[in-house]
Amino acid sequence: MNNITIALAKGRLTQKSLELFRKNGFGESIDEKSRKLIFKDKITYILVKPSDVLTYVEKGVADLGIVGKDIILEFDSDVYEIMDLNFGKCKFSIAGFENQKTYKENEVLRIASKYPNYVRKIFKDRNQKIEIIKLNGSVELAPLLNLSDVIVDIVETGNTIKANGLVVLEDLTEISAKLIANKVSYRFKYEAIKEIENLLGGKNND
Ligand code: PRP
Repeated sequence: MNNITIALAKGRLTQKSLELFRKNGFGESIDEKSRKLIFKDKITYILVKPSDVLTYVEKGVADLGIVGKDIILEFDSDVYEIMDLNFGKCKFSIAGFENQKTYKENEVLRIASKYPNYVRKIFKDRNQKIEIIKLNGSVELAPLLNLSDVIVDIVETGNTIKANGLVVLEDLTEISAKLIANKVSYRFKYEAIKEIENLLGGKNND
């Protein structure tokens, strides 16, 4: 197993990912408070931005990765999604002011989002003209300042939209953390990957 490298997403999934490893006897080398980005015990861990997890795994620098389905849906990449990890649960939703319509006949619906590719896919089959306003965070501000009509974003507790006077207008896709694998690694390091997969998916984790 010691030739396996796993890329972990820094941010909202870090803590839960580490808990999952630690209760299965891995990850004791990881000091999430340090500025170090690479750690090694039974396996090697790298801590990277969520979208970079896909890049490291696709290129085979990491054999495995833990990343949210939101990132997988936004950035098409050539990796296997091998297991749902049952944490990091939230939803992609359209949010805006109460009673607002998500359909504007013969008009452009302005949508602010951190996920422009996902928004394009969702609206592809709807008979709705859209303008996507790509933001990098604090998306809930956009309708408040009339930068957009609605937002498409992840909603977890719902606290952020509520605190900004917005409501969910439509739920789109369920999101959770996924274990992903490089396609070549999955073939050539199958046994080690299966062992990790069994541990992470085992009964310890309920
Ligand atoms: C995410 C998301 C929402 C919020 C949803 O933002 O974009 O703003 O969390 O969570 P909630 O429903 O539990 O309130 P994040 O915290 O990643 O920060 P950002 O807006 O700076 O991207």
